[in-house]
Amino acid sequence: MAKARTQFVCQNCGTVHSRWAGKCDGCGEWNTIIEEDPMGGIGGGPTRAPKKGRPVALTTLSGEIEDAPRIETGISELDRVTGGGFVRGSALLVGGDPGIGKSTVLMQAAAALARRKHRVIYVSGEEAVAQVRLRAQRLGAADSDVLLAAETNVEDILATLSEGKRPDLVIIDSIQTLWSDTVDSAPGTVTQVRTGVQAMIRFAKQTGTAVVLVGHVTKEGQIAGPRVVEHMVDAVLYFEGDRGHHYRILRTVKNRFGATDEIGVFEMSDKGLREVANPSELFLGERNEKSPGAAVFAGMEGTRPLLVEVQALVAPTSLGTPRRAVVGWDSARLSMILAVLEAHCGVRLGQHDVYLNVAGGYRISEPAADLAVASALVSSLAGLALPADCVYFGEVSLSGAVRPVAHTAQRLKEAEKLGFSQAVLPSASTDLPRSGSGRLSEMESLPDLVARIAGSRRALQQVDEAD
Ligand code: TYD
Ligand code: MG
Repeated sequence: MAKARTQFVCQNCGTVHSRWAGKCDGCGEWNTIIEEDPMGGIGGGPTRAPKKGRPVALTTLSGEIEDAPRIETGISELDRVTGGGFVRGSALLVGGDPGIGKSTVLMQAAAALARRKHRVIYVSGEEAVAQVRLRAQRLGAADSDVLLAAETNVEDILATLSEGKRPDLVIIDSIQTLWSDTVDSAPGTVTQVRTGVQAMIRFAKQTGTAVVLVGHVTKEGQIAGPRVVEHMVDAVLYFEGDRGHHYRILRTVKNRFGATDEIGVFEMSDKGLREVANPSELFLGERNEKSPGAAVFAGMEGTRPLLVEVQALVAPTSLGTPRRAVVGWDSARLSMILAVLEAHCGVRLGQHDVYLNVAGGYRISEPAADLAVASALVSSLAGLALPADCVYFGEVSLSGAVRPVAHTAQRLKEAEKLGFSQAVLPSASTDLPRSGSGRLSEMESLPDLVARIAGSRRALQQVDEAD
């Protein structure tokens, strides 16, 4: 008899190794490789001789579609990130750190859908029925007709779901607790998670049910990361947020049925997650308008404008190599801006520590923040507060030129809505609004901006001297 061969699978990224190693070559994580049985499960070898295939009926693109393909929850921040509601017959993965609020938001969505007369089944593998009921009470959802089960076995779950009327939405919380009899590996391993997820996806496609899968992201490799199933599902949402702050962001990472750059903003309260319809107000909430080193960036998140404050602190260093610390932005981009400031604007920062922070724990991913960052840096170095009613956006190239960015009109509109009457923006910006009460300062290059900020210092000095 052939000896059963085992393989070694990284629990973080799913890379298969022929022998055990301390570090995974695929993702560089340590202690994530676990021995698994390759037979059975997805990607496993055939356990018996392949049977002869059965031809399936081919069909056309223009056939009838049974139900409305979308199920809207009415929670608009959630509907926005899913692209207009959960899609029937699709699988959606909601990932995020433990304790961030995945179960909470999904329980709220389940209750909202149940109130709209949809059949919703919530399968909890992590919490006992009593715990889920407690949460539902806290969320004011206890009176909704959500059907609840505490179960982790894939076969049992599928048998339960196939009974009675077809559900509209099934929530599996979480994929890490799923286990199937057909696989030998321990629950939480890559093979088990993949098998479970595959079975749930098959159920979704066959029955037209929308399936939502919850997956924890952990740094420790003991639990399979959702990354190994990302390619299998139709859409992936990540729930992010800073533990020190109350707000949470639901971000689309992948979506076969909609845009991938959408975010939904929520605030965690004692009665669950509240929608935040105007996130800019949240991120600008605790602004100290008179302190140097703060610039308001008019950013975009997907289709929606978002104003955030960029804070910089530039201070003389006592170290041989000055410190550069960044929270909420790309540190390589900060180095680039510092280099451009040194090379083209005569701003010497070699003897200064530089700290950059994006207020509220928010993370900016747009290059359009360059101009706001540069303004905050220069403002801090000069010890001079920027005008409180001014927003900044624009990309800076290595030559020091300020490049236009997309969605100028939307950024300006949001700024105006929130009471900002000035904007510093790239000179070649297209789609400028024809009307609008705001004062626009178009910058051609970064030295222009530095001269403008330094110029205001001169103006202030003159006022001082005149006093
Ligand atoms: P939970 O949804 O259980 O997180 P996850 O499923 O992602 O692990 O959320 C847990 C956290 O949310 C917990 O720290 C308590 C907090 N919370 C509130 O602040 N208010 C609430 O109404 C609820 C239900 C939870
Ligand atoms: Mg949970």
